[in-house]
Amino acid sequence: MYEGTGEALRLEAVRKVYGDDANRVTALDGVSLALPAGSFTAVMGPSGSGKSTLLHCAAGLDRPDGGRVFVDGAELPGGSEAALTRFRRGRVGFVFQHFNLLPTLDVLQNVTLPLRLAGRRADRTRARAVLERVGLGDRLHHLPAELSGGQQQRVAIARALVTEPKVVFGDEPTGALDTRSARQVLGLLQEAVRVHGRTVVMVTHDPVAASYADAVLFLTDGRIVGHVARPTAEQIAERMTHLAEAAERSAFATEA
Ligand SMILES: Nc1ncnc2c1ncn2[C@@H]1O[C@H](COP(=O)(O)OP(=O)(O)OP(=O)(O)O)[C@@H](O)[C@H]1O
Ligand SMILES: [Mg+2]
Repeated sequence: MYEGTGEALRLEAVRKVYGDDANRVTALDGVSLALPAGSFTAVMGPSGSGKSTLLHCAAGLDRPDGGRVFVDGAELPGGSEAALTRFRRGRVGFVFQHFNLLPTLDVLQNVTLPLRLAGRRADRTRARAVLERVGLGDRLHHLPAELSGGQQQRVAIARALVTEPKVVFGDEPTGALDTRSARQVLGLLQEAVRVHGRTVVMVTHDPVAASYADAVLFLTDGRIVGHVARPTAEQIAERMTHLAEAAERSAFATEA
């Protein structure tokens, strides 16, 4: 079992506001958290609570309007888009709900792409090894369209892992998959944490998916409102029901 050392991700009072005066939305309202290296965290909360915004700001895909973000001890840089891109390389990997593979590249090319973009030699041996690990060693020269959804998501996971990033973010990575493919994907994320020492942060709406994580963070209206360690699917489902009820009550209170 991998022994985590140090902190993989830290957010300090992160704020993100969309829109202008007329239609301002505070998507993140002072989010602070610290995740140890080698941890697997699920992020849950109602639609519009800021989960994707949180992931994008933490991964350096977007800039917060306030607060600070640190990945592996290094602070997210100000300045150009190019500086952000450099920051992400080697530090973060991202897995999306709809895979986002490049349709004209085959499986192996999709996985070597991040290495080529980082100016590293397109290490095909390493890419092959990662694809073996996700069970796709015999699909190297297929195009994404020739694969099932579950297989495509496993390619996306291989692509996220090939640069050996400190933190892997997943925004509903099992949201478009059937139960069996979802379980495979969750197993791979768990293995990335337990065997390879990565840190995984995954948004999900599914209590069973969240129960693969070591801890669950609950988000409502851009704020962290709860934390459960070593959760069971039942505990998570119960907590979600309470949060939904509380949200409904506060909506009624505002209307009244
Ligand atoms: N690019 C944007 N421009 C304006 N508002 C945005 C933008 N992106 C998100 N928002 C708003 O910020 C809030 C948080 O959105 P976010 O996508 O983070 O929610 P979420 O928790 O991921 O929801 P879901 O579960 O539906 O994916 C929402 O009110 C949303 O409308
Ligand atoms: Mg979202």
